[in-house]
Amino acid sequence: MARVLIAGCGYVGSELGRSLAADGHTVFGLRRDPSGLPSEIAPIAADLGAAGGLAAVPIDCDSVVYAVGPDAADEAAYRRAYVVGLRRLLEAHDARGASPRWLFVSSTAVYHQSGGEWVDEASETRPARFSGRVLLEAEALLREGGREACAVRLGGIYGPGRTRLVDSVARGEARRRTGPPHFTNRIHRDDAAGALRHLLGEASLPECVLGVDSDPALEDDVFEWLASRLGVATPERVPADSLPARRAGSKRCRNAKLVALGYRFRYPSFRDGYAALLSPV
Ligand SMILES: NC(=O)c1ccc[n+]([C@@H]2O[C@H](COP(=O)([O-])OP(=O)(O)OC[C@H]3O[C@@H](n4cnc5c(N)ncnc54)[C@H](OP(=O)(O)O)[C@@H]3O)[C@@H](O)[C@H]2O)c1
Repeated sequence: MARVLIAGCGYVGSELGRSLAADGHTVFGLRRDPSGLPSEIAPIAADLGAAGGLAAVPIDCDSVVYAVGPDAADEAAYRRAYVVGLRRLLEAHDARGASPRWLFVSSTAVYHQSGGEWVDEASETRPARFSGRVLLEAEALLREGGREACAVRLGGIYGPGRTRLVDSVARGEARRRTGPPHFTNRIHRDDAAGALRHLLGEASLPECVLGVDSDPALEDDVFEWLASRLGVATPERVPADSLPARRAGSKRCRNAKLVALGYRFRYPSFRDGYAALLSPV
């Protein structure tokens, strides 16, 4: 049985921790306020963004999953969460001569492509926004010193309690935009946790893997499918420039590597994942 530290034990981390603990692994969940963690995850209260305070962190785990998220959508918060926090945790392990395997939860925000291109782990990454640039900096930090480590680039996470898109269509607040078709990439929480779990069981880790479902879908198709399932009107189409600019460019992320590693998606398409959310068993 393994000992696993989940740093940033939030939405995805808690699901991963629950599943590991159910199979008898020892799981530590680190966050600033761990009071709400499921009881099978050992709580570790620590702030990775502040100086000191890592004394309670178990440095002797077989694997560390780094899934810390930023407090705000600005560069300083991203840098604190992804670069400062990761560096501090890496240094704490290096100082003790500990060499666990690392999974770093990154994002498809590292890709700049915006013309509907297919992208995979070998594609160029020249992000225009700070989010992608900071994540790439963290990925590079992770690779320093020849660690056994994998950056897992997740698409937009949805699942129980993360239903912003469904809610906006249900309330009639969603809008389709004029302009070229826009591809979107997502992953259900259970597949995000499942993919991380699968990677932890791999004999050797790839340097990078995309964590997205098998259906990079047109935004319009997602809206139309949700409206039809919910029995509400299809979102109105409005001029693109009347809405805030999208944060993600139009691209199609390929999950072939994750699938080749043997991971089987529970929700291969948004249709599967949203159907389960709309009619829970
Ligand atoms: N949301 C998306 O669609 C998406 C897409 C791609 C990638 N990602 C990335 O995937 C990862 C997991 O996402 P998620 O939805 O599970 O995130 P989440 O629910 O926001 O969890 C992040 C966790 O990090 C902890 N944290 C934040 N700052 C910390 C600090 N200074 N020290 C210690 N812990 C800290 C938070 O707990 P406390 O507040 O208690 O500290 C929280 O539990 C994140 O890196 C996220 O950026 C997300």
